[in-house]
Amino acid sequence: MSGETDALITRAVELLRAGQLVALPTETVYGLGADALNPAALARIFALKGRPADHPLIVHLPPDAALEDWAREVPASARALAAAFWPGPLTLILRRHARVPAAVSGGQDTLALRVPDHPLALALLRAFGSGIAAPSANRFGHVSPTTAAHVRAEFGDAVPLILDGGPCRVGLESTIVDLSRGVPVVLRPGAIGAADIARVTGVAPHAADADRHGPAPRASGLLARHYAPRTPAELVDGAALPGRLAQLKAQGLRVGVLALRRPLGDGIALDDEPAAYGQRLYAALRELDGGGFDRLLIETPPPGEAWRAVHDRLRRAVA
Ligand code: TXA
Ligand code: MG
Repeated sequence: MSGETDALITRAVELLRAGQLVALPTETVYGLGADALNPAALARIFALKGRPADHPLIVHLPPDAALEDWAREVPASARALAAAFWPGPLTLILRRHARVPAAVSGGQDTLALRVPDHPLALALLRAFGSGIAAPSANRFGHVSPTTAAHVRAEFGDAVPLILDGGPCRVGLESTIVDLSRGVPVVLRPGAIGAADIARVTGVAPHAADADRHGPAPRASGLLARHYAPRTPAELVDGAALPGRLAQLKAQGLRVGVLALRRPLGDGIALDDEPAAYGQRLYAALRELDGGGFDRLLIETPPPGEAWRAVHDRLRRAVA
């Protein structure tokens, strides 16, 4: 790592120790980070994001952290998933250790943990030597940031330091698996799929909406409208897209189109492959949101398990 990067990491650690916020890149999206054990610093995250205080945060851990220091119980499935996928885009929900402030998880007795797979995030976590609580670095309900410029557009100078790690490789938030209630439950789909989890744990995880046990998890990723552009958006099948576009234009509306493979009208075309599509999706939504359109039309991607995380985010973006 260069001397310049070293100096930035040192500065970031100083800020975190002083209870300030630091925006950091991860492989999924950028996070708005604070010392996970400092309640005053955690309060800054909620205030800046405009996030309700009962919406829990994810704690990012250094790769050598002991899960027992953060969770009261560490089931074998958690060890297996961590060994298989960390560092990586997988968040595990476990029962929160008593030393971790309840504010991190919005008062719940569980805690979300992950080790992110990004060299700058890992360097920061190693240097800090403890957990960094970080939600996505966007205003509550808005599209997650996948570049440092997106974070700046959300918060301007209100964040004292934004570490620039380039565009995020995955582009969609981590898969969240709840292991605190017996059977693994996927609370938010992501790059790591249900089949990956089943292969490692030997148990097919339930989907959040199929789960009928225990209190409803307060995961903001589960809100119907979330990850949303400000411009009203519609999901439309490819075959119906030209017709719907003509119809809206006939009403005098300016329409931006997020198409697959080939651009249509004014807009952007994304790759017809789920990983590439997911990587670019949020940047494309932001670009269209800034394009002065009255309405956005989003071409429905193909069906199938590989597209699940993309479908989940698009459904919420148009809700
Ligand atoms: O990829 C990611 O997960 C990114 C990067 C920065 O790591 N983070 C992220 O954080 O997406 P956030 O706060 O925007 O979304 C975290 C999700 C929320 O839906 C939250 O409610 C859920 O995790 N969550 C956190 N702790 C939880 C808990 N104890 N029980 C249930 N859901 C929880
Ligand atoms: Mg978020």
